[in-house]
Amino acid sequence: MNLKVLKKAELARENSYSPYSKFRVGAALLLANGDIFTGCNIEASSYSMTCCAERVALFKAISEGNNEFKAIAIVGGFDDINKPCMPCGACRQVMAEFCPPDFKIILKNNDGFEEYTLSELLPKGFLLK
Ligand code: THU
Repeated sequence: MNLKVLKKAELARENSYSPYSKFRVGAALLLANGDIFTGCNIEASSYSMTCCAERVALFKAISEGNNEFKAIAIVGGFDDINKPCMPCGACRQVMAEFCPPDFKIILKNNDGFEEYTLSELLPKGFLLK
């Protein structure tokens, strides 16, 4: 399953719109029911309007009524996509809003992939609830 979602993330990366940074990212979000939603990073001339691949995938899924998430695979880089692309702090915070502490974060690397839980990457995160 990890390899399947990683492949989807790699394919989603092909749609990355990143003419400013040239850093291309794809993400594939695995739902509890086995469905997969993908995303890519989307930049804008006004740079701060940029949305990361992870949040595109999450927002697509959430906007269609989904709320049970198991894992996300992330593939990103300039040319070398075997260097793990760690999710940014903003994306970790959004994951914490919608995903359980044992939500898996799967990153493509030289050996295939490496895996973390959300609670490992965002320990003691802020939540209102
Ligand atoms: N980016 C992502 O899409 N996901 C990450 O995990 C890190 C950064 C994007 C945002 C921007 O378009 C580009 O990569 C460089 O920061």
